[in-house]
Amino acid sequence: MEFQLLTAPAESWAGDAIAAVCFEHPEVDAAAGTLGAEATAAAATSVADPKIAEQSGWLAELRSSGEFTGKLYETAILHRPSGIAAKRLAVIGGGRREKLSQIEARRIGGALARALRSKGARNIAIVLADWAQPGIVRALAEGAILGTWEADKYKTDPKKNDKKLESMTFIASAGDAKAFETELRQGVITGEAQNLTRDLVNEPPNRLTPALLAEATREMAAGSGLECEVLDRERMSELGMGALLGVAQGSSNPPFLIILKYQPSVASTDNHLALIGKGVTFDTGGISIKPADGMEKMKYDMAGAAAVVGAMRAISQLKPPIAVTGYIPTVENMLNGNAQRPSDIVNSLSGKTIEVVNTDAEGRLILADAITYANRNGASHLVDAATLTGAIGIALGHHNMGVFTNNAEFLNRFLAAATAAGEKAWQLPMDEEYKEQLKSIFADLANVGGRPAGSITAAWFLKEFADPKPWVHLDIASTAWLDEVKPWASKGPTGVAVRSFVRLAMDWQRA
Ligand code: BES
Ligand code: MN
Ligand code: ZN
Repeated sequence: MEFQLLTAPAESWAGDAIAAVCFEHPEVDAAAGTLGAEATAAAATSVADPKIAEQSGWLAELRSSGEFTGKLYETAILHRPSGIAAKRLAVIGGGRREKLSQIEARRIGGALARALRSKGARNIAIVLADWAQPGIVRALAEGAILGTWEADKYKTDPKKNDKKLESMTFIASAGDAKAFETELRQGVITGEAQNLTRDLVNEPPNRLTPALLAEATREMAAGSGLECEVLDRERMSELGMGALLGVAQGSSNPPFLIILKYQPSVASTDNHLALIGKGVTFDTGGISIKPADGMEKMKYDMAGAAAVVGAMRAISQLKPPIAVTGYIPTVENMLNGNAQRPSDIVNSLSGKTIEVVNTDAEGRLILADAITYANRNGASHLVDAATLTGAIGIALGHHNMGVFTNNAEFLNRFLAAATAAGEKAWQLPMDEEYKEQLKSIFADLANVGGRPAGSITAAWFLKEFADPKPWVHLDIASTAWLDEVKPWASKGPTGVAVRSFVRLAMDWQRA
């Protein structure tokens, strides 16, 4: 989809549908009491452009009949609006005007793009008004890109290509154009990066083995000017990555550690950010096998890895002034005659021994070695994203990713980036007491800590390898996959963490 910014009058834009955001009533009702009909109409449309405001008789009727109230993501479409070159005028609900944040704006962009696409529109426009505060245009563009992504790559029905958006035009006043231009470019880059992540997560495990993930990442790197290095089993065995290799040994698909390097031409800091993503291309649980019901979803157990790939591509385009390296340990957690057993003891790269009490707690094992490797290769700050525990969905549901840290100051910086990127995150505690649950009588550490606080003990396990470097862990097990279609998004992979990663690098301030 092409995006452009236009500073011509809205009524002269000729395309399939031009859209205006209209808000919920309270303010209009208030305006109706004190102002004349004209002001009410303008407030009702929230559109500065008089030619669009003229259609407000239509809108007023929609409002009074209750067909359109301005609630978030509601839409209504008028064909052949008078005095407007576009074929259709669409309104989309913006909810309560005072509550509009970039989170809603992103969803409005998605809902609008999905609604107009479903009507067969190919070229659409949106009229920006005073509500388009900084960050809103970026969010709208991201939303439209994210909203039109579908999980139907392997459907053979050719009809799916009939309805496709080709372009989206943002209509603004000349004064705002420059800032909006920058936002638009950033929005397109991050939105498309997030869709790359979703494409990877969407691949089934027979089409995305660890080797194929390495190949896809190499390809992305070659197209983006990033350096890409891939460590194979032999190399990892020389290095001593026993925790990662133990997980991989039950599969005929060999494991890899993928490394992606971004080096700024002018660095404003000697800090070095490591982004680490769990890349389990399929998680059967291993010998501690998962129940059949729902096991098919375990193809998304590489969503952290895919988020790193997507973020690294955006970073290569947006060029933040800090060095960023992506580390992707990737394995398949399978079970064959060579699979590791509950009670096996492995030697991690760090030197710590681990008792594998449950082979289904494999993510932390591969991350442990990747974190140690990042630590030894110049990382000053670490952030990992992993579909690590089912328990995080019990704690937080599907709206917030869980965040954990060993460094409050770094966490605050991460949270500022996540907020600026419109991703929700909630911190869980890391008291010393939880660590005791990981005690093993046979080894330095057990890989599970029992049922209570499962996400926290998983994070504690990682912390043992991250310390003392500032580290933030994102448990994205309950946010990386959307179980039901929304007005602004299809069902399936969400691409969570990509935008936070990108924002963190872009807004980097020296520690
Ligand atoms: N990949 C799973 C976590 C997961 C669960 C991701 C549901 C997405 C949806 C992880 O490897 C796992 O199996 N974790 C176990 C840990 C347990 C054995 C301590 C879990 O959450 O049950
Ligand atoms: Mn598992
Ligand atoms: Zn897993």
